[in-house]
Amino acid sequence: MLDKEFKVSIPCSRVKLAVEHVANRINSDYTGKEVIFVAILNGSFMFVAELMRKIKLTCRISFVKVASYEGDTSGGIVRELIGLKEDLNGKHVILLEDIVDTGFTLDHLMRQIRTNYSPESIAVASLLFKPQSYRKSIPVNYVGFEVPNDFVVGWGLDYNGYGRNLEDICIMC
Ligand code: IMP
Ligand code: MG
Repeated sequence: MLDKEFKVSIPCSRVKLAVEHVANRINSDYTGKEVIFVAILNGSFMFVAELMRKIKLTCRISFVKVASYEGDTSGGIVRELIGLKEDLNGKHVILLEDIVDTGFTLDHLMRQIRTNYSPESIAVASLLFKPQSYRKSIPVNYVGFEVPNDFVVGWGLDYNGYGRNLEDICIMC
């Protein structure tokens, strides 16, 4: 893809099982509670679609955007959070991410949310997590897979805009 080679790292069937496992944990942790999911576009769209089919709670979902990444290294340039219309005051909020890498995006989002609202609780669910490059202390409560520091695509994750459609999670060779 483009100038890089990728190979399958986590096949689709395993990804689906991991997402179901995350959904089960959320279902049991939030039993009897109403949740607002805040999905961070673009990368989270496939994770979110798969996850939400398995969520049994009374819930709403809001799609927001924030861009902080260029090419295959984290630039750390975080732009504004856009598209959040819901009032999060007093709500149980779960942020949905495709991948948490350095954690700068997450940190920025958390700050914006806590500046503007007082949610009852905030948790984070991410399809992938790169613990070796994580630089923040916010807990990532629900993780599909921990992955090494290599660049991955597929399941919504892109390389310069390409590869989001890949049904397996693929790793740069
Ligand atoms: P962070 O702010 O460094 O945690 O980066 C978060 C964002 O960087 C993610 O939401 C992705 O959009 C992007 N990102 C980080 N690692 C990868 C990767 O391996 N493949 C594709 N995108 C990535
Ligand atoms: Mg993202």
